Amino acid sequence: MSTKIICIANQKGGVGKTTTAVSLAHGLVLKGKRVLLIDLDPQGQSATALGRSPEPGVFYLLTMGMTQQETSFINSWVRFSGREGLHILPGDQQTMAAQTVLNAQDRPVSAIRQTVSRFFKDGPDYILFDTAPSVGGIQERAVWASDLVIVPTATEFLSADGVGKVLGMMSILQSKKNWRGNLLGILPTFYDEQTRESKATIEDLKARFASSLLPPIHRSTLLRECAAQGQTIFEMDELCRAAKEYQALAQFVLKY
Ligand SMILES: Nc1ncnc2c1ncn2[C@@H]1O[C@H](COP(=O)(O)OP(=O)(O)O)[C@@H](O)[C@H]1O
Ligand SMILES: [Mg+2]
Repeated sequence: MSTKIICIANQKGGVGKTTTAVSLAHGLVLKGKRVLLIDLDPQGQSATALGRSPEPGVFYLLTMGMTQQETSFINSWVRFSGREGLHILPGDQQTMAAQTVLNAQDRPVSAIRQTVSRFFKDGPDYILFDTAPSVGGIQERAVWASDLVIVPTATEFLSADGVGKVLGMMSILQSKKNWRGNLLGILPTFYDEQTRESKATIEDLKARFASSLLPPIHRSTLLRECAAQGQTIFEMDELCRAAKEYQALAQFVLKY
């Protein structure tokens, strides 16, 4: 199969983007796929969540050209996660500087698609982007680069507003910038049916985004502990509810 690119995006922080990126990446790998996770967030937490360190790989990806030499240099920053089939191109705070370069040079909206296309040849089945809440130019170019977008959203008040902003950006990219990708779905996170806020939020999301709503990921203590341990939810406890929920998400992605 050709490489499919999936972007995990939301303008809000703390909604489970990194958790979803890492869990989905490992979930797809456990289903026999090869995945490259690219951490476009300057906080570099995708690497940490996989037990590695933030590094400036993404800075080079975003600022260097397309010569063979540059490509092999960038490839030298791709790290094996220790899980067969799962690699990561880590980012760190230098990604902020890359953002400045992208904008100063007025790189087109297709810039990230172009620079990751170097990975297509003999490449992974999936490239996943973890993104930052609002690294302006990077987020837009990352969405444009993607075939599919997943929008995690915490089940708390006003979450629909954040989702609305991302969907608004996506529809502008489709209508004005010739973007060919699509929304894969909105993923409610931190779901807890015991709380009125969670239940009300799900109802609100259903009312506004009906068919785009994916089954929710419940609030999970184990999921919270994953990042600190540098382990994925499948390594912490593959039978727990959160593992099953992310496994179901991976299964859904496979069918796309
Ligand atoms: N379903 C969940 N249940 C409990 N804690 C979660 C869940 N999803 C994420 N977390 C925790 O919440 C915090 C924010 O999640 P994170 O994935 O880093 O969000 P983002 O990348 O959108 O900022 C992290 O500490 C993470 O471990
Ligand atoms: Mg994050």
